[in-house]
Amino acid sequence: MIKFGIIGYGYWGPNVVRNLTTLEGGEVVAVSDKSPAARRRVQKTYPGLRVTADASELFTSTEIDAIAVVTPVWTHYELAKAALENGKHVFVEKPFTSSVAQAEELINLAARKNLKIMVDHTFLFTGAVKKIQQLLEEGALGNLYYYDSTRVNLGLFQHDINVSWDLAPHDLSIMDYLIKDSPEAIVATGQTHLNGFEDVAFITIYFPNKIIAHINVNWLSPVKVRTTLIGGEKKMLVWNDLEADEKVKLYDKGVHITTRQGLYDLLVNYRSGDMWAPQIEQVEALRQELTYFVDCIAHDRTPFNDGVAGLRVVKLLEAANQSLSKRGALIYL
Ligand SMILES: NC(=O)c1ccc[n+]([C@@H]2O[C@H](COP(=O)([O-])OP(=O)(O)OC[C@H]3O[C@@H](n4cnc5c(N)ncnc54)[C@H](O)[C@@H]3O)[C@@H](O)[C@H]2O)c1
Repeated sequence: MIKFGIIGYGYWGPNVVRNLTTLEGGEVVAVSDKSPAARRRVQKTYPGLRVTADASELFTSTEIDAIAVVTPVWTHYELAKAALENGKHVFVEKPFTSSVAQAEELINLAARKNLKIMVDHTFLFTGAVKKIQQLLEEGALGNLYYYDSTRVNLGLFQHDINVSWDLAPHDLSIMDYLIKDSPEAIVATGQTHLNGFEDVAFITIYFPNKIIAHINVNWLSPVKVRTTLIGGEKKMLVWNDLEADEKVKLYDKGVHITTRQGLYDLLVNYRSGDMWAPQIEQVEALRQELTYFVDCIAHDRTPFNDGVAGLRVVKLLEAANQSLSKRGALIYL
């Protein structure tokens, strides 16, 4: 039984606490939140559960094996560091840290202490992403051409980070998981309209072998869109996460270019075949992820969404900010 302390019971924290309280192999010992209103909500939902304003009580508790850090990103480094220094495994929300240097320090600290870090890249545990990963691994799409993701809606404005640090960690972690190559360069453009942080951003990532990725994140969209297109030489895929059924559709469409014998003009052949919607596993991704974390701790395994995976995403976010500040300068990674 792995015993948890959770820090942060705002918007996302209740999901982490709910799952951990009902998980086989996991148990919640205490929850910490600075906000009295948040602490009242914990007490109302879980009467009898230990609740405290002071997170250091969790770090020093001999009862606790692992800490979940579910607070705003600027607090992740300090809280995760204190947890690791006190011998606790950590589950840290996305994005892992505010900088590459912080992420590297936490990774080294965890390695020295033989402790696990898991970064909450929740989407990697969804049925849709698992299915897409399987299709790519089987070579269903052939050589990849592009990855193009749109994640836009109205709000929720964050007060400490721009839209790319808020929303793009999802897309970057999925992209990192699906495209195994290391990105070569990044370009990001965006604009600040309301609170000094970019609320609209367009990020382009260059990979080897002519693979290109594009991520569109926006807090000022009148409608919510969660759509990813993945184009390959053999087939093309559309993932609409807002669809109740048939979230993933695989199109047998493509383009084939030949040169007519003896002539110099190109022949462009379009192939337009069947569409297939594979069965997608219906699971609560966070629950699967926390089950996996407990299993990794219990069996001393390194999670695939570990601190190093979190660092890869933070590296891209940091480079995107660099590019944003120079109105789309090409940043080599
Ligand atoms: N994985 C996902 O799909 C997902 C979804 C939403 C949010 N998140 C991430 O979760 C984290 C929290 O986001 P949120 O939307 O829940 O934020 P939030 O502001 O709603 O809640 C954060 C809570 O942490 C508390 N807090 C802050 N510092 C504290 C400290 N030192 N000690 C104790 N309590 C402290 C605040 O009082 C607040 O109640 C962010 O990193 C965010 O990116 C992840």
